[in-house]
Amino acid sequence: MQREVDLGNRRDTRLLAKELARAARPGMALFLTGDLGAGKTTLTRYICEELSIKPREVTSPTFAVIHEYQGGRLPVAHVDLYRLGEGADIYELGLDEYLERGFFVIIEWAEFMAEMPGCPFIRVGLRLSPEGKRQAKIETSGDVSVDLKQLSLSEETRR
Ligand SMILES: Nc1ncnc2c1ncn2[C@@H]1O[C@H](COP(=O)(O)OP(=O)(O)O)[C@@H](O)[C@H]1O
Ligand SMILES: [Mg+2]
Repeated sequence: MQREVDLGNRRDTRLLAKELARAARPGMALFLTGDLGAGKTTLTRYICEELSIKPREVTSPTFAVIHEYQGGRLPVAHVDLYRLGEGADIYELGLDEYLERGFFVIIEWAEFMAEMPGCPFIRVGLRLSPEGKRQAKIETSGDVSVDLKQLSLSEETRR
């Protein structure tokens, strides 16, 4: 599945987060890509809220690289590869172990991963245009589907 939607306001981002949280399963990865300020951490916070994790706990793990959030509908590992940069090693980080242990693994700056773990995944590319328009491109592995009916398709997809 591949779709592109407009995120006209925070409500749209929350709607997307709700559907991503609904699709989330133990052992699944969510790859987040997009520039600094595109909204990766914000989307992660909204998803965690939907999973009944205290949003206060959800902060950017830029320095720690990984934050673990327990106590929600499923355990979440929140990863930020920004500090590691190009070629970040998923095995060195133990991401495969998190997946095996049934975590939902959310990865900011997934473009820096040298290898992709072989697991069900959702990829969300976030974009903030110079005019302040936000868009999200959503792609999933064959066994995953995300309901985006309530979000409007972007012009690009409609063409
Ligand atoms: N969907 C959104 N609508 C409006 N503002 C947003 C949205 N997503 C993020 N922001 C704002 O943009 C800024 C950067 O967001 P952040 O989520 O930290 O981006 P990233 O993690 O991609 O660097 C924050 O001030 C945040 O409040
Ligand atoms: Mg961030």
